[in-house]
Amino acid sequence: MSTKKNIPALPISKKLTIGLFGFGVVGKGLYEVLQSTPALQAGIKTICIKNADKKRSIPAEHFTTDPRAILEDEEINVVVELIDDADAAYSIVKEALQKGKAVVSANKKMIAAHFEELLRLQFEHEAAFLYEGSCCASIPIIRNLEEYYDNDLLSSVKGIVNGSTNFILTKIFEEGLSFKDALLQAQQLGFAESNPALDIEGHDAANKLSILLAHGFGTITKPTEILYNGITPIKETDAEVAKQKNLQIKLVATARKINDTQLAAFVLPQFVAADDELANVNNEFNGLITESSFADKHFFKGRGAGAYPTAAAVLSDIAALRYNYKYEYKKYLQQSGISLTNDFYLKVFVSATDINLIEKDEFEWLEEWHNESNNSWVVGIIHAQKLFSGNWWKETGVSLILTENPIVENVDYRKIGKKSLALAGVL
Ligand code: HSE
Repeated sequence: MSTKKNIPALPISKKLTIGLFGFGVVGKGLYEVLQSTPALQAGIKTICIKNADKKRSIPAEHFTTDPRAILEDEEINVVVELIDDADAAYSIVKEALQKGKAVVSANKKMIAAHFEELLRLQFEHEAAFLYEGSCCASIPIIRNLEEYYDNDLLSSVKGIVNGSTNFILTKIFEEGLSFKDALLQAQQLGFAESNPALDIEGHDAANKLSILLAHGFGTITKPTEILYNGITPIKETDAEVAKQKNLQIKLVATARKINDTQLAAFVLPQFVAADDELANVNNEFNGLITESSFADKHFFKGRGAGAYPTAAAVLSDIAALRYNYKYEYKKYLQQSGISLTNDFYLKVFVSATDINLIEKDEFEWLEEWHNESNNSWVVGIIHAQKLFSGNWWKETGVSLILTENPIVENVDYRKIGKKSLALAGVL
């Protein structure tokens, strides 16, 4: 049996002195979590807040309203940025990296909007920038994409990446709450963004997906280049159709390699079958399924929003800094050359309060067609580029929900053409 003296000592860990920006839901959560982890030897020296008059739960001497008190303090070697304003966050992170400080952030909107610039700053100033808390809160997905899936075997990542919308859908469909009440609860519990439109309109999920694309596939893309929508259009009648078919409706983010050089990526409401792992991801939980050659599938599930789950991810990043951990962006640097495409087909359900709102000519193929008073719906195949460049399916009264396995492969619908619509008796 080996004795302790034969075990090599751990590398010496760095002493971390933290300057924290923001003392909202996550900032406060981090403060409390750090109090319970003294072994980490990471202390918060200064906390920068916007509003000095707000009543705080800890003594006033911890706070400043002057960002320079952190950025110009040479003893502070770690900046933790947990503020709400993405533009102000960007200025803080940029300056901190330029000064060679390590930075931890959970600001997905800011990271997604400035990904390339932030990457350049990290390399130029050899400063670490970690942001596990930005995607799926407590689920360590970025670290796994960086370290475990650091080869080109990963073929897809799909899942529920926004806690608030998942919470709202669960409360509406399982407890019969109204959309308004469910959203209010998500806000009260600290799950929603301070501008909840970011959650319910799908922007937050698109921001997260763009970060996952960079780490999973080396593809840097702006969220605006991703096909996405939120949960606001989903109608009660859609929920009834889902129920009849024994399906649930979830907001699902998908990234899938459709060949060696092209990636399909989108965030849309989707029907989920009872035997899909995502069917058991409820309330504010997030869930991700990765697929890779040889390993096959992995399923990650965890709390996707809220003070402590996000603070836990931030804490894990802080702990990683003690040993000089940095993201290596291997897939991006290997120039895998995988780019985003909208040249693929999706099988979708579209419902509308008025049948004329459904642009049937946009479809390659219609499989089902129901025309009832106040609720008409179709199931059909549509080219993703037509959804990306068209707006009819986002009009009031129309909802588009992906079918369970939405990417249609191995069929060239261009060859079938509009004939299929005639066959389906629509034209
Ligand atoms: N508003 C976000 C969500 C917080 O609901 O997922 C976590 O990123």
